[in-house]
Amino acid sequence: MTTRITALGLILGGALWAAPTFSKDVAPIFNRHCVECHRPGSVAPMSLLDYKSARPWAKAIRDAVISRKMPPWFADPKHGSFSNDPTLSKADLDTVRAGSRTAFPAPEGPSINTCFPGCRMPARTSP
Ligand code: HEC
Repeated sequence: MTTRITALGLILGGALWAAPTFSKDVAPIFNRHCVECHRPGSVAPMSLLDYKSARPWAKAIRDAVISRKMPPWFADPKHGSFSNDPTLSKADLDTVRAGSRTAFPAPEGPSINTCFPGCRMPARTSP
């Protein structure tokens, strides 16, 4: 029985640690693909330069990258692929999606206390 609970704890713990964190996983993607527009004084309405400004936008960011509305790309893919294509790779998309699902775990590491309304809090296991 104890073994069972420990194993479950390890699985849940592993899943939490695997969650992308803002500074380590998500910020480099934003820096490559988003902040050229999403910075104070640029064309986009909000900054994605740091955790504090990006976090309230977690849900909108999730929607925008899943629907591929962001980053905007106006060239028509039927004319071939472009070397400066800003589209997110599948891996980057997955990272942003996973990170935004938990409203971006805090910069210092995954946190189970931050969650935007509507997202699911991880189940609490042992005391
Ligand atoms: C070429 C400039 C540019 C780039 C690059 C860019 N954005 Fe934007 N973004 C905009 C502009 C302009 C708006 C406001 C107009 C709009 O909503 O279409 C916007 C709006 C948004 C919104 C609000 C959408 C909504 O539905 O209200 C989100 C979220 C967003 N961007 C996320 C991102 C993310 C994440 C990236 C990188 C993966 C990114 N953007 C890259 C220019 C950009």
